[in-house]
Amino acid sequence: MTAASTSPAQSRGVTAQAASIIAALPRAEKIRLVSGADFWNTEAAEGQGVSAFMLTDGPHGLRKQNGSGDHAGLHDSVPATCFPTASALGSTWDVPLLEEVGAALGRESRTEEVGVLLGPGLNIKRHPAGGRNFEYLSEDPLLSGRMAAALVRGIQSEGVGACLKHFAANNQESDRMRIDTLVDERALREIYLTGFEIAVREAEPWTVMCAYNLINGEHAGESHKLLTEVLRDEWGFDGLVMTDWFATFDRPAGIRAGLDLEMPSSSGAWDGRIEAAIEAGELSEADLDVACGRVVTLALKVAAERASRLPADPVAMHDDHHDLARRVAAAAATLLTNDGTLPLAPRGRIALIGAFAETPRHQGGGSSLVNSTRMDTALAAMRTRLGDDGEVVYAPGYDAATGEASDAQIAEALAAAEGAEAVVLMVGLPTSFESEGYDRDHLDLPSSHERLIQAVTARHDRVVVALSHGAPVHMPWADAPEAIVTGHLGGQAAGSAIVDVLFGDAEPGGRLAESYPVQAKDLPSDHHFASAPTQVQYREGIYVGYRFHDTFGVPARFPFGHGLSYTTFEIGDTKLTGRGTSRTVTVPVTNTSGRAGSTVVQVYVHDPVSTLHRPAQELKGFAKVWLEPGETAQAAIALDARSFAVYDVDASAWKVEAGEYELRIGLSSTRIVATKTVRISSDDVIAPAAAPASAIAADKEFAGMLGRPIPAPRPLFPFHYDSTIGDLTSTWLGRRFGGVLRAAMAKAMPTDGDMPDEVRETMTSFVVNMPLRALPAMSEDRLTFASLDRLIRLLNSTALSSRRAARK
Ligand code: BGC
Repeated sequence: MTAASTSPAQSRGVTAQAASIIAALPRAEKIRLVSGADFWNTEAAEGQGVSAFMLTDGPHGLRKQNGSGDHAGLHDSVPATCFPTASALGSTWDVPLLEEVGAALGRESRTEEVGVLLGPGLNIKRHPAGGRNFEYLSEDPLLSGRMAAALVRGIQSEGVGACLKHFAANNQESDRMRIDTLVDERALREIYLTGFEIAVREAEPWTVMCAYNLINGEHAGESHKLLTEVLRDEWGFDGLVMTDWFATFDRPAGIRAGLDLEMPSSSGAWDGRIEAAIEAGELSEADLDVACGRVVTLALKVAAERASRLPADPVAMHDDHHDLARRVAAAAATLLTNDGTLPLAPRGRIALIGAFAETPRHQGGGSSLVNSTRMDTALAAMRTRLGDDGEVVYAPGYDAATGEASDAQIAEALAAAEGAEAVVLMVGLPTSFESEGYDRDHLDLPSSHERLIQAVTARHDRVVVALSHGAPVHMPWADAPEAIVTGHLGGQAAGSAIVDVLFGDAEPGGRLAESYPVQAKDLPSDHHFASAPTQVQYREGIYVGYRFHDTFGVPARFPFGHGLSYTTFEIGDTKLTGRGTSRTVTVPVTNTSGRAGSTVVQVYVHDPVSTLHRPAQELKGFAKVWLEPGETAQAAIALDARSFAVYDVDASAWKVEAGEYELRIGLSSTRIVATKTVRISSDDVIAPAAAPASAIAADKEFAGMLGRPIPAPRPLFPFHYDSTIGDLTSTWLGRRFGGVLRAAMAKAMPTDGDMPDEVRETMTSFVVNMPLRALPAMSEDRLTFASLDRLIRLLNSTALSSRRAARK
């Protein structure tokens, strides 16, 4: 590899002040600055007026650790408001509200002197079993991008940097540190990159975090195409790109590609190699200067912002933010079914069943774990709401941590339901089911929760199921209760917010930001998801979520965009204004009910005749409207060239085909209430491609999509830098070595109290999936790269000799 020269576009993002500072720095100093100082902070160059700053999680609350740092949710962090997780935030479809949440996150970060908050996360939910789906916004790139942009604007309005993560195509947890995502260019552009593009263009985030995974054989953090050509040259990003924690594979290659900051610190482990790469002419000093210049630019920006603002009073701030968290959780709550049982009258005897009423399931596990400032429970909130007008009869029904139920617990639940006006059954996924670090292997609720639903609905005819979960679940029982509402993972005010919704004090404002399939095996991604190590094939291409359901006629149980109201709305005559591809759809919406409420008007574009196969329809705009009884509002939704475009892989360009398009105005992806036809003229020529025979591309078809033969997955042996600790267990020496490492890590773990199951599981998966290349950084350079190279050679040669011996 020879050193690439630095194009002017590459130096975008370096201010003149930063450039003059680094011009005076010796090379070793610049190398020091492009890696962190410790787990959460950057290096300083005090003599040059460059201060260190903190970057920390993220995304739905601040996780600032003052003591030991970790990225698995193990050690304590300062109290902070735990807002609803991204899966809930995405379900609000509410841009101004997410800006408010972003501003609150920024304010808490600023008050704690954090320079960059590591969020929002906006990877696409390719499969509902993705362990980290609760941390992501939607299956749709437009919704993801708009919601993320709102959060970024909010965070940055407080003088704190936001961080779009994880760039890109990081859609499963299994083997996440080194999985090679095989994805065709069109799907990459239309599905996996578009959200990032929208957020970059709309909100100008200060930073982006690269993903752990490889994309088509190349580490995301070493992809010049992704980090420089697409992100900076095409989209105009002028901020800083950092690694995900321990994502570095080859630091000089990362710098060459446009990766500015390595996090956390690798304690100088890479310094010698960066120096050697420059000496050998494999990395240009100019590239190092650009990376360092961007780190310095950001450090100066953080310092300037901090100097110009006062910290907030934490007590008043946390009170306000708790109220906001409650409002947001209600705005996200999504009413899936309702025969009129909801809202409940706030009187009489109500049976509240389910341990989540007392121990709320409100956030997911891993690096996003927030130490909430307080916690509302549905039990306390319901008792307060009913006061002397009614009575709450509570039965846990199951164990909150394991989700298991004894016969006695079920019998107690049935007794509580006996004679009640209504039963509220709180079920969902226990914490250990959803975490960063591993995927779910099925979408079922715990069997005891299903048993409870069956038993209670068989005996009572006014049963409301209130779900807590970070991603879709199977609901074969969906017709049994009179109403189902999901609060998603509602954050620290989840308990009070769901009670607000149950009694109609707040409306269920949410609409699904992802489809709930009848069964996971209906989905094309199910056949290539989290199944094989080292490689995952996106054979469904662009047919993700509703794009699959609607195109292939496989109905979801609850479709994308779905959510009922307590209000009724009437849609008036839709108007279309504008010219060419710049159009505005104006939809009059009238609240025809006696109570105030909101709805989300969604615009899908359908191309009836296309040279290139396309999804049946795609979301291209939306507007949330709030109406008093009898009020009419005009929902105005703007469309542009991208609303009609496809990505032409041969031309590496977005193109719009001339012809008629149908604009479908819907209250969900399947509830289309009006259509408009628009004729678009264009000279763009697109290479023809017929619809795929099935949603799962066959070998030949997939090779065609990739534009090359399907590569074999990287073998697990011989071992290399990307081999994981888990891989080593195939050899005797590796098992010994892995054992030593695990023991060393266990020693570093907090020992106070019992470690909850999900934390233990997350930790185990972090250790087992840790690639060898991260060890020098993790050992704080006690293990050097030279010793790691020797160790890998030794592991390979002993494994080879024992294989040979076994063959004799
Ligand atoms: C996660 C990131 C997180 C980082 C720091 C990583 O394991 O993927 O999302 O920001 O740790 O905790």
